[in-house]
Amino acid sequence: MRLVLREPTVDDYATVTSWVADASACALWAGARFPFPFAARDLPDLIRVAKGASYVLCDENAATLAFGQYRVPKTGAVHLCRIIVAPHARGDGLGKVLCRMLIDEGVRATGATAVTLRVYRNNVAARAVYRSLGFVPVEEGSNPEVLWMRAQATSAPLAEAKGRVTA
Ligand SMILES: CC(C)(COP(=O)(O)OP(=O)(O)OC[C@H]1O[C@@H](n2cnc3c(N)ncnc32)[C@H](O)[C@@H]1OP(=O)(O)O)[C@@H](O)C(=O)NCCC(=O)NCCS
Repeated sequence: MRLVLREPTVDDYATVTSWVADASACALWAGARFPFPFAARDLPDLIRVAKGASYVLCDENAATLAFGQYRVPKTGAVHLCRIIVAPHARGDGLGKVLCRMLIDEGVRATGATAVTLRVYRNNVAARAVYRSLGFVPVEEGSNPEVLWMRAQATSAPLAEAKGRVTA
């Protein structure tokens, strides 16, 4: 499967909104303070990042399969956020490919040497993705519910992502 990152359209924001089924799924995706329900037309403002970028992952038929962002919290680092794969497409390696491509793009655009993210400790699927990409928990900066994770911003080839899809 040929996969590309591109900037989201208005239709993509509606699609991503449809993937967030309820308040607990919303909190896992975007944090406990994120409002639920939210309107698709409000999503671009709700998730706007001052420095950074938003992307959707699409297949060769232009179907939107995943969404994610990076932001630049400080010089030398990018922070992955709002990672989500379409419910029907989970478990096929797309989460890993999306994160790998976001890291590559963030590093290319900013020259970052570190990548960080936050994940709920009980988010087993997300933690598996991040662990397999080399992220390690950093207890300073974590709390009983949320882990702070960090990885060196090396640009490993996608083939090393062991996903069942290739970009
Ligand atoms: C988290 C999420 C992005 C993962 O995407 P995905 O496409 O299903 O994940 P992948 O298929 O790329 O899986 C990557 C790895 O995680 C593992 N994994 C995925 N789902 C898992 C699960 N539910 N339990 C255990 N391991 C899991 C896979 O086995 C794979 O491991 P491997 O590299 O050893 O083969 C997806 O479940 C999702 O969109 N969740 C809702 C939103 C969310 O929680 N976002 C994260 C916010 S921090």
